[in-house]
Amino acid sequence: MIKYSILVFFALFTCFSVHSQEIEQVAPGVFKITYGTPDTFTPSSFREEAPKDDALAKLPAPVLPFDLSAINISKNSRGIVLNLPLTQNEQLYGFGLQIGSFNQNGLKKRPIVNDYPLNNLGYTHAPLPYYTSNKGYAVLVNTSRYTTFYCGANQLKNRPEAESSKKQETVLSAEELYEIKPGKSDGEVVVDIEGAEGIEVFVFAGPSMSNAIQRYNLFAGGGALPALWGLGVKYRVKADFHQKDVEETAAYMREHKIPVSTLGLEPRWQTAAYPCSFVWNEEFFPDPEQMIGDLAKNGYQINLWEHAFVSNQSPLYEPLYEKSGDYLGFYGLVPDFADEAVRGIFSDFHKTNLVDLGVTGFKMDECDNSDLTHGSAHWSFPEHSSFPSGINGEQMHQLFGLLYQKSIYSIFKEENLRTYLDVRSSNAFASPYPASLYSDTYDQQEYVRMIANSGFSGLLWSPEVRESGSFRELARRTQTAVLSAQTLFNSWYLQNPPWLQYDKGKNNAGELLPEAAANEAVIRKLLNHRMSLVPYLYSAFYHYHTEGTAPFRGLVVDYPNDENVWKIDNEYLIGTDLLAAPITNEAMEREVYLPAGTWYNFNTNEKYEGNKTYTVSFKLDEVPLFVKSGSILPLAEPVQYIDQSTTFEIKCHIYGDSPRPTNLFLDDGKTFDYQKGNYSLTQLSWKNGKLKNELVHKAKGILDYTFLEPVVID
Ligand code: GAL
Repeated sequence: MIKYSILVFFALFTCFSVHSQEIEQVAPGVFKITYGTPDTFTPSSFREEAPKDDALAKLPAPVLPFDLSAINISKNSRGIVLNLPLTQNEQLYGFGLQIGSFNQNGLKKRPIVNDYPLNNLGYTHAPLPYYTSNKGYAVLVNTSRYTTFYCGANQLKNRPEAESSKKQETVLSAEELYEIKPGKSDGEVVVDIEGAEGIEVFVFAGPSMSNAIQRYNLFAGGGALPALWGLGVKYRVKADFHQKDVEETAAYMREHKIPVSTLGLEPRWQTAAYPCSFVWNEEFFPDPEQMIGDLAKNGYQINLWEHAFVSNQSPLYEPLYEKSGDYLGFYGLVPDFADEAVRGIFSDFHKTNLVDLGVTGFKMDECDNSDLTHGSAHWSFPEHSSFPSGINGEQMHQLFGLLYQKSIYSIFKEENLRTYLDVRSSNAFASPYPASLYSDTYDQQEYVRMIANSGFSGLLWSPEVRESGSFRELARRTQTAVLSAQTLFNSWYLQNPPWLQYDKGKNNAGELLPEAAANEAVIRKLLNHRMSLVPYLYSAFYHYHTEGTAPFRGLVVDYPNDENVWKIDNEYLIGTDLLAAPITNEAMEREVYLPAGTWYNFNTNEKYEGNKTYTVSFKLDEVPLFVKSGSILPLAEPVQYIDQSTTFEIKCHIYGDSPRPTNLFLDDGKTFDYQKGNYSLTQLSWKNGKLKNELVHKAKGILDYTFLEPVVID
């Protein structure tokens, strides 16, 4: 009898799990489909912020190009399989910070965390099980398992297109034989989630692709609003620098008017690194508190490198021993960050010993897994690791960067102090974290593609500058860094700034270039361009925060129906009005496609009609930037750094006839008090040949603007 009822129950349960897909609208235009028993440890289970329901409700009424019942979920002996519709001419993007591909049609994608990601399978620093379509929707498969997406890549035998896609002709090269054949019309996206017993899928409605992405970011809690100083320049010093070297670097930048806002210290500030002690190394830094205080007086923020693997020389070792995984990472304990209490122990220590001393940011390194493509790479913990919370090694890898950000960001939230962090891994629901990803990879084209890809799913990316093969390459790299979410020089293995000597060996031997001063003038000019853009960028971040529009994004987001942009991965939009087209490597010119409208070269004011491709050259001290006609571009007189005494002097550049009004956001730049109404919003408009700057909202105690005579460009 007992046996029978168990059997009946099992049969009923199986039947239920095979056929039941519950669909629920969880926020305006956001739908959740639940099937079977979803995992406990998912990206959404560690969300940082509540969904921004009010902002979601203000978006256009949700539209989906398919019925949600067209999504089929089933379970087989391997795990869960999802079948999602894919229509003719539909273009797919996403999967996190992809490095080797942009338009994902016809590809098999495995977004899996990896420290040195190459190629187009999907290994990345930020592996989001997420894609978005130019037809106006986005899909998030809420899992931390290693998952495979077939984007119209495989054909079922019973589909009409199976016959027609067979190769008939004789092929005489291996490349051609195995070339990617995109899926045919009316294909599907198939998702393979090995080992899962159930799944949650979020679908974000349009009508447009940009609305769908906005919904994703707003559902995640809104985009990040970094500390205002974070939009200035970050310079990371050599790993073996002592306190006096750091102080000398700081003095050098001010003397030479290089506008650096943040200095980053690399591993040796600690008594032990690889793994970490998180304790100041007195031999290298005899008086960190005094150093930080003096640097702060000169407008510098201090950011500290670390990874989360805990050395047995660290005061955190004992408290975390029982609360860490069974395997080591870089010979240190791997804290069980899935447990809130563990995140608390870790963050409390950082607060008391580092943040209270004046440290305003951290670089969270090596939270991505050691390279999965090399047998010799195994510095990180294995996938079969287990943790006291019950999360397994595979899930922990996918979520480690996300949880690390959660732990560190909590300190700043509690202190009412905003920050801008560096992190080497992330995942879904990370939009609210003011943290920019970086990489040890260094290919320029990939770096630019990653900017375009970052905007599909709430990620920020720093295409950092290190050494170079020539000064021309260094300047091109700097141009891209200036036009990105974070302008970062990572001189962790360079004695001198790279513009004084781009070659690593000669730089460290002290052989500076004869033309070092002239090179420095070029870099100074580029960095000043960045500082001019800070108010514009800050307002773009404010829109990201409140409306979910990514500040940096591929052209396809705003022009989803323009076939010419579907594969453009070397241009991107910044805010509402700017288009960047970086030049890479040794080139002096490049082809630029400009979408509908009229565009201006930012440097020369030359005018271009859109819907066309042009060959354009940019000098080394120019920024590869175009401005859309109808824009009011607020450019600031460059400052060296931003502190509480900063007043931005703004010169508005007016492009074309009847410019659109635009909003400038400003607050104290460093606390969360804007949430209590302490900010200013200035509406800029152009009426009868005159600039009108109208305060829409103004509170006391915040930074200020003064407006200079505008410049009209036609
Ligand atoms: C790497 C990191 C570099 C640098 C280095 C220091 O993992 O990506 O940027 O910080 O560690 O050891």
